[in-house]
Amino acid sequence: MDRRQRFLAALARQPVDRPPVWLMRQAGRYLSGYRAVRAEHGFWEVCRTPELSTRVALEPLQRFALDAAIVFSDILVVPEALGAGVSFEKGEGPLFTNVLRSRADLAKWNTTGLMERLAYVPNAVKHLSQTLDGSHGLLGFTGAPFTLFAYSVEGGGSDDFRHARAMLASEPGLARDAMNVLADAIVELGLAELAAGADAVQLFDTWGGLLTKDEYRAHVVPPLNRAASKLRASGKPVILFIKGGMHLLEVLEEVEVDGVSLDWRTSFTEARAALPHHLLQGQLDPVLLFAGEEAVRQRTRALLDELDALPGGNRGCIVNLGHGILPQTPERSVAALCEEVAARAP
Ligand code: CP3
Repeated sequence: MDRRQRFLAALARQPVDRPPVWLMRQAGRYLSGYRAVRAEHGFWEVCRTPELSTRVALEPLQRFALDAAIVFSDILVVPEALGAGVSFEKGEGPLFTNVLRSRADLAKWNTTGLMERLAYVPNAVKHLSQTLDGSHGLLGFTGAPFTLFAYSVEGGGSDDFRHARAMLASEPGLARDAMNVLADAIVELGLAELAAGADAVQLFDTWGGLLTKDEYRAHVVPPLNRAASKLRASGKPVILFIKGGMHLLEVLEEVEVDGVSLDWRTSFTEARAALPHHLLQGQLDPVLLFAGEEAVRQRTRALLDELDALPGGNRGCIVNLGHGILPQTPERSVAALCEEVAARAP
């Protein structure tokens, strides 16, 4: 099977010669090639220049036996296009100029001509897709409504996203309206990425795990389904990633996605029991990549054995990390992980 065939077969939950592998944040600061590009170009410039975006998206594919590419972009492109003013300061997380704390702030979000301001994302997908020419699978992505809401209210990164979570309780109507605006933007962006050549779209709900089951059901599932149902109508699969989402597995039955990307604390065995028909992806600990090559190889082999032993076997399983690769990750560990997965092909 070639790489793209394998990736498409896994997405379709059909038999594979071995599970495909790609890694969240595979094109990032742990790669010297990425750092070299960033030494000369700003982050948004890389995102907005198809040649640069493609160049950094290809970096990991040239080094490691990965089966899929992910477009180089960011989840925060959506609040940026709505007018939040997002910057990435050196060594820090994202910083928003305009935060969402009131109805008046929401009224300032500019949805007119949104897709014109976001056209660089599908343009990057198209350029990458043409360059790959079918050699690898290709993922598009966007943030999920709650995680984009959380950044927009907080105005940047946070351990607890307290302003955002407080707003769910204090002003649920405002939170709902904001997430619905985000959901509609996500639909437009995701559909444009799929039309530009993405094989699937991943929705990153990185901070969804901060919520209780009841909160996720009440506040997040409605806007998430508003977005996911329309993306799925394209006929291509939608995958949802939640960090720390173990307690939400049973809620995910109610979410209209094809696949779930597990964090490192949720095993495939537990997830398969809760979600017998979903595409599952994950869930090696990004910190494992700091444990030395031999540990990486052993743990990867153990994961592949676990997939083979699932009811239904490794159909509908994609090997990935349980969260994004960390900046200081040794490239040799990434190579070892990919080699162990590739070694499973007959
Ligand atoms: O290979 C890839 O996956 C690259 C594409 C990609 C980026 N961000 C590029 C990026 C993807 C899929 C993302 C997703 C993303 N962005 C998420 C969801 C995944 C996760 O990690 O939970 C989130 C929460 C963000 C928001 C974000 N963007 C943060 C918090 C930061 C700064 C700190 C950090 O983690 O890097 C960014 C900036 C960013 N996005 C960088 C990259 C490579 C680093 C920017 C730089 O070069 O300095």
